[in-house]
Amino acid sequence: MKHPQQHEVLITKEDIEKHVRRLAEEISRDYRDKYPLMVGILKGSFVFLSDLIRSLEIPVEVDFVRICSYGHRKVTSGNVKMVQGLRSKVKDRDVIIVDDIVDTGLATNHLINHLRKKGPTSIKVCALLDKPSRRKITIPIDYRGIVIPDKFVVGYGLDYDERYRDLPYICALED
Ligand code: IMP
Ligand code: MG
Repeated sequence: MKHPQQHEVLITKEDIEKHVRRLAEEISRDYRDKYPLMVGILKGSFVFLSDLIRSLEIPVEVDFVRICSYGHRKVTSGNVKMVQGLRSKVKDRDVIIVDDIVDTGLATNHLINHLRKKGPTSIKVCALLDKPSRRKITIPIDYRGIVIPDKFVVGYGLDYDERYRDLPYICALED
């Protein structure tokens, strides 16, 4: 074990791969002959995004934003702030936001509103995990990976206090 504590494996490596392939097929089909700009939300989405783009059958441009939410470590406070923005041109582009998890929805919503002002042709959201039980704002998830229960999860890019991002599967942490 890379990490000493035992955790309940919620989603195996094989399951993640299966869903990443499915999402990549959906995106490749919908964006055939297009060149979308994929915007990953750091840090959590970097593992998912890197697997996703390698499964795509279309070319994409990749950029990142970094959004911080301030509050207790396992709970979003509601104060979200973009601490690193995009360098790419968004005007007249098809943009796909790539998120590790949509929890309250506040971070994704913040990014959608920010991008809308820049005049893109379209904005879609792709999220590996959806935790609908804690949603505070409705987010249209166009490409949805796996719906999970109200548990705090780590691995495959997701952290608790910056740990566990390196796990190849997703675990639920005990309280
Ligand atoms: P939001 O609550 O939808 O705004 O989610 C903001 C961010 O909180 C996500 O992109 C994740 O990085 C983080 N987050 C939310 N739920 C979890 C979780 O269960 N484990 C690890 N990080 C999470
Ligand atoms: Mg985090």
